[in-house]
Amino acid sequence: MASIKVLVTGAAGQIAYSLLHSIAKGDVFGQDQTITLVMLDIPPMATVLKGVEMELEDCALPLLKEVISTTDYKEAFSDIDVAILVGAMPRREGMERKDLLKANAGIFQGQGKALDQYAKKSVKVLVVGNPANTNCLIASKCAPSIPKKNFSCLTRLDQNRAQSQVASRVGVAANSVCNVIIWGNHSSTQYPDVRHALVCTADGTVSPVPAVVKDDAWLNGDFITTVQKRGGAVIAARKLSSAMSAAKAIGDHVRDWWFGINNKVCCSGASKLWTSMGVYSDGSHYGIPEDIIYSFPVTIQNRDYTIVDGLEINDASRARMDETAKELVEERDAALQFLSSS
Ligand SMILES: NC(=O)c1ccc[n+]([C@@H]2O[C@H](COP(=O)([O-])OP(=O)(O)OC[C@H]3O[C@@H](n4cnc5c(N)ncnc54)[C@H](O)[C@@H]3O)[C@@H](O)[C@H]2O)c1
Repeated sequence: MASIKVLVTGAAGQIAYSLLHSIAKGDVFGQDQTITLVMLDIPPMATVLKGVEMELEDCALPLLKEVISTTDYKEAFSDIDVAILVGAMPRREGMERKDLLKANAGIFQGQGKALDQYAKKSVKVLVVGNPANTNCLIASKCAPSIPKKNFSCLTRLDQNRAQSQVASRVGVAANSVCNVIIWGNHSSTQYPDVRHALVCTADGTVSPVPAVVKDDAWLNGDFITTVQKRGGAVIAARKLSSAMSAAKAIGDHVRDWWFGINNKVCCSGASKLWTSMGVYSDGSHYGIPEDIIYSFPVTIQNRDYTIVDGLEINDASRARMDETAKELVEERDAALQFLSSS
């Protein structure tokens, strides 16, 4: 099997510190896939990058063919099969949201152009750095030679959080809950939706989550706000943003995109399994506006996703789905305005 080249940006940061090891030991691309791992960060972090490179070497991992640490876009993006774009400008104290959008629009414009110029045309791109949906849109727009379908952003951490909340409420293992949906933006307007989710109970029966939880007030109230605000709760407790769980979610997202959704779980009784990914909206699904990156439920086959259509949407869901779409349209318009005026 040919070796693959995987780029991780923000490689000197805290998410990457968990993620790189997981990729290099075969958790994401399988136990028989050798890998060249390319690590990109900004020049002030070059020494830290070298330290991470030394540690990867010291792990003595058999699948790791080569490690390249660099601060140069051409070296980082050339001939890559997968790009995991974690690095982004963090929100500093006192920084306004529009300033964060502006700084990141500039970064992802540059990385989109580098993808366009240097990466394989089949490259799969996952954007993690926030604001993830809009950064992903900008990168895709700046890489017109790469299909839009090769770009996605991470909402799997939100899905994992939601799945875990339901599993602990019902008293089952996390992989006994499936088909949770995250709609929209990876922000506090996201809509974690369990109306179509399933749970496998101890006797092996597969039932709708609302029927097993039997507490609609919780599902429509505290459950949703807990998932929406979980990132903030982790920051408040740790004084750092989610890193271990983000790295785990990145691995889950990329592995499912590469191999298809793992159905060796209790929910194999479900007729159709889906997962949530932030993907390009062409305006033809669920009345969501076109030209934003919106998190939808998707199935995956041959490294290609398909948005799951036809799910019944009630009025309360509709309002939540529209609210998060509105935020994404505003983010997009602001980011594009910055780019056109710069
Ligand atoms: N989508 C999600 O679910 C999710 C979850 C958690 C965190 N995040 C986001 O992921 C990002 C990284 O988080 P972290 O905790 O690892 O942050 P971190 O600050 O520990 O690391 C970020 C790294 O990115 C680097 N960087 C900055 N600009 C860069 C550029 N232009 N090119 C390459 N590298 C660059 C920094 O030097 C730093 O080493 C943040 O934007 C965070 O908000 C997203």
